Amino acid sequence: MKPKNKVFIATSIDGFIADRNGSIEWLETYPDINTIDTGYEAFTSDIEALLMGHNTYKTLCGFDIEWPYKKPVFILSNSRSKLEGKFKNDVVLIGGSLSEVLNNIHERGYHQLYIDGGKVIQSFLEKDLVDELVITIIPVILGGGIPLFSMSPKALKYECFKIVHYLDVIAQSHYRRIR
Ligand SMILES: NC(=O)c1ccc[n+]([C@@H]2O[C@H](COP(=O)([O-])OP(=O)(O)OC[C@H]3O[C@@H](n4cnc5c(N)ncnc54)[C@H](OP(=O)(O)O)[C@@H]3O)[C@@H](O)[C@H]2O)c1
Repeated sequence: MKPKNKVFIATSIDGFIADRNGSIEWLETYPDINTIDTGYEAFTSDIEALLMGHNTYKTLCGFDIEWPYKKPVFILSNSRSKLEGKFKNDVVLIGGSLSEVLNNIHERGYHQLYIDGGKVIQSFLEKDLVDELVITIIPVILGGGIPLFSMSPKALKYECFKIVHYLDVIAQSHYRRIR
């Protein structure tokens, strides 16, 4: 199967993935969303490993939770030679250019990847490396924060192959890259 990089992420209406304080508490605006299946299990069953930005990893370590992932997780950092945090033994630190990182992960046998973290997703988009995006829009306007998208060198065409409406309040769009 051809290698694929996929994104599954929640944003505000105005396109932020975290608020001005780096908090994602606003994801709980409609807490009932956590009681229903929003496709996360199906999405993760299709991927073979995660590539997560170092900032998202640090946020994860701050949560009062057990290790939540069933697939191997690679943490992308070019500033660290080893990781801190309570999940440091659950993950693999990886660094280098995106092509070096992808080659390294592919050589380990993982080709269907879940790309997570705002800056990391932006870097992948900059290099036209995102094949699918699932964006769940929490209907709140934050007015500022960490954006999902940034300026990138060229327009990239996607098709929306699925839209789901949850609890009559939350929309989720599934996009596939048309090359
Ligand atoms: N709403 C959601 O669904 C959702 C999902 C995920 C995360 N989040 C939130 O997003 C925030 C974190 O996102 P973020 O945008 O700040 O950072 P991020 O993408 O998680 O991590 C960025 C870091 O990754 C490292 N990195 C190494 N190579 C890179 C490359 N080529 N491109 C990009 N990054 C590279 C850098 O750290 P080094 O300096 O160590 O190299 C960089 O600072 C957290 O608040 C988290 O809770 C929200």
